Amino acid sequence: MNPETMTPLDSYLRDLDLLLADAQQAFNSATNLQEVEEARVEFLGAKSGRFKAVQKQLGQIPGESKPVAGQNLNRVKNDIQAALDNAKQRFSTESFRGQPDPTFDRTLPGSTRRLGRLHPITQTINELMDIMGRLGFSPAFGPEVEDERHNFEALNIPADHPARDPLENFYLSVASQQHGNTSLLRSQTSTVQIRVMEKSQPPIRVISLGRVYRPDTADPTHYPMFHQMEGLMVDRNVTLATLKTVLKLFATNYLGESVPVRIRPSFFPFTEPSVEADYFWNGKWTEFGGAGIVDPNVFKAVGYDTEQFTGFAFGLGVERLCMIRHGITDIRDMYTNDVRFLRQF
Ligand code: DAH
Repeated sequence: MNPETMTPLDSYLRDLDLLLADAQQAFNSATNLQEVEEARVEFLGAKSGRFKAVQKQLGQIPGESKPVAGQNLNRVKNDIQAALDNAKQRFSTESFRGQPDPTFDRTLPGSTRRLGRLHPITQTINELMDIMGRLGFSPAFGPEVEDERHNFEALNIPADHPARDPLENFYLSVASQQHGNTSLLRSQTSTVQIRVMEKSQPPIRVISLGRVYRPDTADPTHYPMFHQMEGLMVDRNVTLATLKTVLKLFATNYLGESVPVRIRPSFFPFTEPSVEADYFWNGKWTEFGGAGIVDPNVFKAVGYDTEQFTGFAFGLGVERLCMIRHGITDIRDMYTNDVRFLRQF
């Protein structure tokens, strides 16, 4: 439009349109509340806002055009106000709280992220290592696939011994063929006694915690895989009294109170004499494992001088210790991997 021929109403309406376009642009492109406020002052400021400036032109509009001019002024004012409200809404955290997403159902149960935790057996193993560590026993490890020397022969278990029966052990036919000598899943952690003594000289104070395997049918107290804690101490003058003291210190530390320990005669091929050890807790005697004085034949198998050294050894079931502590009544629960059970520990 030619500015020469423009009426005051024309230029007033043109300024209004320009004002609205600039204001909408400013509010829509604001990236934070500070910019929204700056735009509000620029366009709607009471003293020198641009809206006020255009409003002043109303005085020059001839009477008959006043209604149209007034209507347009209101329309533009409302539209600018709407753009301002909209921009505020975008940055106000209040608006998120006050007007939640309509698709959000706050009555639905939430999903929590649970922390993982160690398996009760792993927790028990860590605790046993800790207690025995304080008594001066360091951890030792051995393979779970063993040969007959470490699982039997060096432990004074001869070839015709019933403990070597295929029905009592997991012999591994493929591994045996590949390595040329008979392999099996170890049936006891006593294997680690041999592995330690082959490599080192007395004095020795070790414990070995690990898995052992036997073809037992699973029931509340049996499982084909379980864990043992093996202890071995070799030095000068180690006696049954030393053994009993260590077992008593161990039981007292593990159960958290002073518990009586007793030993009963028993038999194991690798100890002489051999004993069964019990502790008295919760009103009754409970067996916690086998033990004894290391048989001289075992020392001979690893080349130790049987005149100079004596030693004791013991083997305890880790599952049983864990079950007693936590009141678990079925060993199978520990290997079903039901999180509702595992979460309790
Ligand atoms: N190895 C035995 C078992 O699995 C437990 C045992 C008994 C270990 C006496 C020992 C020991 O070290 O001296 O039944």
